[in-house]
Amino acid sequence: MFFRKKEAETAPSAARGAGPAGSVHVSMTVNGKSVSAEIDPRTLLVQYIRENQRLTGTHVGCDTSQCGACVVHVDGRAVKSCTVLAATCDGAKITTIEGLAADGKLHPMQEAFREHHGLQCGFCTPGMIMAAVDIVNRKGGNVDEATIRHELEGNICRCTGYHNIVAAIRAGAAAMGSMRQAAE
Ligand code: FES
Ligand code: FES
Repeated sequence: MFFRKKEAETAPSAARGAGPAGSVHVSMTVNGKSVSAEIDPRTLLVQYIRENQRLTGTHVGCDTSQCGACVVHVDGRAVKSCTVLAATCDGAKITTIEGLAADGKLHPMQEAFREHHGLQCGFCTPGMIMAAVDIVNRKGGNVDEATIRHELEGNICRCTGYHNIVAAIRAGAAAMGSMRQAAE
């Protein structure tokens, strides 16, 4: 998983509270839509997504880069959005869990989580699914169980025990692989 931890770590410690010292203008594409805003330069990407864009499917579980509930894609790569300053994403293409479904149909990875009961409370699920899609994009549709478990080390689930999550990702990976082959 791709981290931009340094930017967030070097942000002022008052990143979530104090008034802005001067706003910055950011423009990005979020789920295919061009958006722009004047923001406090200390705004984290996850704050921008949830509070400015009102896309609350991206969750905050820890705020310390541990749990993976906040994973989104930045220019096609999975990123923990609690570790990234929104200002560093100026010009980027962001995809959140709300941007995966298309034409009224769930993304194959979403469908696989539903089919294989890859969730209980669902809190970790948006981050799990965004991470899973990234795994398949990098490792392919035949990704094996050991690789999935290794790749998921940055995503924590407190409910399911991971067995069904891994089964869902294997099924979702196969479905994504079949779709890509059919499109070639
Ligand atoms: Fe970002 Fe937990 S909220 S890793
Ligand atoms: Fe509840 Fe993962 S389904 S934390």
